[in-house]
Amino acid sequence: MVFPDVRPRRLRRTPALRRLVGETDLDPRHLVLPLFVREGATEPVPIGSMPGVVQHTRETLKKAASEALASGLGGVMLFGIPAEKDPLGSGATDPHGILNLAITDVVAEVGDQLTVMSDLCLDEFTDHGHCGVLDPDGNVDNDRTLEVYAEMAVAQAAAGVDLVSPSGMMDGQVAAIRRALDEAEHQGTGILAYSAKYASAFYGPFREAVDSSLQGDRRTYQQQPGNRREGVREALIDVAEGADIVMVKPALGYLDVLSAVRAAVEVPVAAYNVSGEYSMIEAAAANGWIDREPAILEALTSIRRAGADIILTYWALEAASLLRR
Ligand code: PBG
Repeated sequence: MVFPDVRPRRLRRTPALRRLVGETDLDPRHLVLPLFVREGATEPVPIGSMPGVVQHTRETLKKAASEALASGLGGVMLFGIPAEKDPLGSGATDPHGILNLAITDVVAEVGDQLTVMSDLCLDEFTDHGHCGVLDPDGNVDNDRTLEVYAEMAVAQAAAGVDLVSPSGMMDGQVAAIRRALDEAEHQGTGILAYSAKYASAFYGPFREAVDSSLQGDRRTYQQQPGNRREGVREALIDVAEGADIVMVKPALGYLDVLSAVRAAVEVPVAAYNVSGEYSMIEAAAANGWIDREPAILEALTSIRRAGADIILTYWALEAASLLRR
């Protein structure tokens, strides 16, 4: 009889031993719930491609935010869907635009008890669906867009948001926003930057969630999926420009980028477990092809293991209740 010299299985024998040697914690405080609010909605509107996710009314949005607080989540990330879109995305900078009103509503509801974040991007507000304004040739005009982002940031800060979240992948967006916030005396408003954001097919269901009118794609501003080094470069640039937190997006297909970014910066790192990642597991589970709850917890644990301090996920509330069990 030959005995193995080394027996890693000893530490897996009982649940107590496994708990003792667990390397990765997943706690509700790590989770941020993205929430959609639709201007003019009188009932929550289900999003067909994201079972269980809705476009909220202003009233139900407040309820969802208090649930997030009661569940011990780390925060909420707000997205607005305006009734009218135009080429400049005017609803984004209007203090009475849906997202700015929603920020005020939610902050009034949860105060300082829950971190409130808001998407800072024009794609939900423009009729062409791009993340910025267009030049006469139809290209996204980086520097003109920065002026709009700066104005949008100040409107969101005035509405009371804790962290603005630029997701448009314009060069210089963090610096432009930081300067505008400081000039408007919002030094305390932070920036969670979508730093390494890839042009991904996994945003598909989100486009339905925000009634996106995009024709074409975002490949002139979002990164190509094969580039890891460039993701680290983007994160370093954002930190240098004043980002308080950097993010990698999507999460599951980009765990190596997440891990590299975590190693490269000193600020907290977030990851966005995006709509397509959510819907794939939901669809497989609905077909009986995958065991839903363990799949959710495994996906989120993997994102933590790769280096995310913070995870944006549509499962945040449910995962928090699974973790409490
Ligand atoms: C842009 C934005 C997108 C998502 C978050 N912010 C869409 C895009 O870049 O096309 C996607 C989120 C998801 O798929 O869950 N404002």
